Amino acid sequence: MIEVKSEAEIALMREPTAIVRDCLSFVGEKIGAGMTTKDVDRLVYDFIKASGAEPSCLGYCGYPASACISVNEVVVHGIPDDRVIEEGDIVSVDLCAYKNGFHGDGARTFRIGTVSPEKDKLVRVTEECFFQGIEGLKAGTPLYDIGYRVQKHAESNGFSVIRAYTGHGIGREMHEDPAVPNVGRRGTGVRLEAGTVICIEPMIAAGTFRVKVLPDGWTAVTLDGKPAAHYENTVVIREDGVEILTL
Ligand code: MF3
Ligand code: CO
Repeated sequence: MIEVKSEAEIALMREPTAIVRDCLSFVGEKIGAGMTTKDVDRLVYDFIKASGAEPSCLGYCGYPASACISVNEVVVHGIPDDRVIEEGDIVSVDLCAYKNGFHGDGARTFRIGTVSPEKDKLVRVTEECFFQGIEGLKAGTPLYDIGYRVQKHAESNGFSVIRAYTGHGIGREMHEDPAVPNVGRRGTGVRLEAGTVICIEPMIAAGTFRVKVLPDGWTAVTLDGKPAAHYENTVVIREDGVEILTL
């Protein structure tokens, strides 16, 4: 069941989503070559705690960290460890904050120093896919129009869309209905109602969209080892458009 949020509930979501936004900007300023992904996770943990929120990911289904940090061929759910971030890497940081009884969720992919032209384009196109996905989105839009638009933009740029993971509704739970796929047929799916809050999160690969999960049970990597990027925001469906809470 897709829960429509009241204005009072949306007001309560402003704080956790603003913390996600600010934490992602903070990480963007600090991240660099020579840090481990664990170092980045520590920054996220400390930032979220100092903001009076809880890192929703920590302990979620046994997940052992505050952020998912996914380098190059890691698509999503990279567990922070001793991997050293290097010049030329692309690093996606996905994090959630819980405050006021609600979650906020967002992700960015950062370029570390100078990256290859292919990675540079991948990061740019992945961000564009999000903005394409919300183009024209408002109350009454069929859900799979989002995926249709994301897929069209990714594939027309020579990239592929990860299918194994989707966006999702969000609120008192980190993952609520509906699932928000990044592929789809135009004009299909439920019509989104005003007050629905969803996370739209294109995950785009330079090569194949096929992934495998490493033995740690979380880390999803591309089967061909080519890079992937991720970009996510929490958005409210409004009568006349969308409101992006994490930007
Ligand atoms: N933030 C992720 C999302 O976009 C969820 C990560 S799973 C977790 O849905 F276990 F790390 F929390
Ligand atoms: Co999400």
